[in-house]
Amino acid sequence: MDKLLIEGGVPLAGEVNISGAKNAALPLLCAALLTDQPLHLSNVPHLNDVSTMLRLLVQMGVDVTLDEKNGIVLNAGGLNKPEAPYDMVKTMRAAILTLGPLLARTGRARVSLPGGCAIGARPVDIHIRGLQAMGAEIHVEHGYILAKAKRLRGAKIFCDLVTVTGTENLMMAAALADGVTVIENAAREPEVVDLAICLNAMGAKVSGAGGDVITIEGVERLSGAHHRIMPDRIETGTFLVAAAVTGGRVRLNGTSCGILDAVVEKLREAGAKIDCREDAIEISAEAPLNAVNLRTAPYPAFPTDMQAQFMVLNSVARGSAMMTETIFENRFMHAQELRRLGADIEISGNNAVVKGVSRLDGATVMATDLRASACLVVAGLVARGETLIDRIYHLDRGYEHIEEKLSQLGARIRRVH
Ligand code: EPZ
Repeated sequence: MDKLLIEGGVPLAGEVNISGAKNAALPLLCAALLTDQPLHLSNVPHLNDVSTMLRLLVQMGVDVTLDEKNGIVLNAGGLNKPEAPYDMVKTMRAAILTLGPLLARTGRARVSLPGGCAIGARPVDIHIRGLQAMGAEIHVEHGYILAKAKRLRGAKIFCDLVTVTGTENLMMAAALADGVTVIENAAREPEVVDLAICLNAMGAKVSGAGGDVITIEGVERLSGAHHRIMPDRIETGTFLVAAAVTGGRVRLNGTSCGILDAVVEKLREAGAKIDCREDAIEISAEAPLNAVNLRTAPYPAFPTDMQAQFMVLNSVARGSAMMTETIFENRFMHAQELRRLGADIEISGNNAVVKGVSRLDGATVMATDLRASACLVVAGLVARGETLIDRIYHLDRGYEHIEEKLSQLGARIRRVH
């Protein structure tokens, strides 16, 4: 089992390229199921979750060709097995995103119910109710979602919770439905917009993406398209926090402030200096920063995927901060690992009070989920001495070549087997 060994205390300096967004790539790969024409995606990040999704699509009968450096051409003309088996879904719950497209394209689907995960129960009831509203017959047995529909029909769907993949699943299903679908209380995340742009390039008629009401006028069939995946705003935010807490000066290329305004504002409130460029972000900061209160909520509010990273920032900031997690019921597991490094964090329910300490000291810690592992890397960069992070397979799911990129910025980090 790989581990990461980090020698902390080095201010990051230099520039790195931000990769394509994991949470845009995953639904976009599933969009290929909606057509028998080739879908060409570029700026695809090399991540374990992407590889898992590709393996899942190939076993369904999708032809996948890797082209140039990070481009992929998918062709679902040979789609012959509309199934997502448990052994593939259990490691990557985003496989639920195949449900809508399979149903819309073939009229049937058998998708393993994604289990819960470390951060919460993460039910998919809103996905299922939305598809039923569109006329799908769905029942769940032996841990599988069994769905069928002659042809989905447009419907008015109200999501009683804002759900990112729920919105994406329903948008893809509606693209081929008979009639108009309106999704109310839709997720407004940039990844939803990126998917809508790609669907429209394929001939779909999606309007309103980015707002909380999305209208999709179903069409008979979709064609292929070429789509460049948007930059990863959570990788961007993670590197911004790493630069800020180490008192560094970093330029991130291939990204922009506009996809993570709430994070940029919080970093400025903490005292970082951020310049927003056309296709890059520059940040510099003097440690210690000011502690910042935050409350996670659906986009455009502060993203839950950046909460763990900001817990590190507050752990070494001046003052104390209240952090509230409103999206997932168990997303503070990184707190006990940060305490092993010397952080002062009190948890009560979905609130964390973080008191800044003068420094963190390196220790052996364990990653529990994707963003918690990123937070431990950031903590290792700022802690004095050596930090050894175990179970970094979580990290490899969502960050492309993170130790190479951090080494490029001067960090003393290496993977040990
Ligand atoms: C997406 O997960 C992201 N994953 C998550 O990123 C992200 O944390 C999350 O959105 C919130 O922004 C991908 O896009 C692949 P939700 P998703 O449905 O869609 C409840 C990462 O680290 N809910 O928006 O699964 C749910 O339990 C990952 O990259 C229902 O109750 O999240 C949660 O409390 C982690 N019923 C809330 O809604 C449903 O049918 C928001 O979940 C669906 C969701």
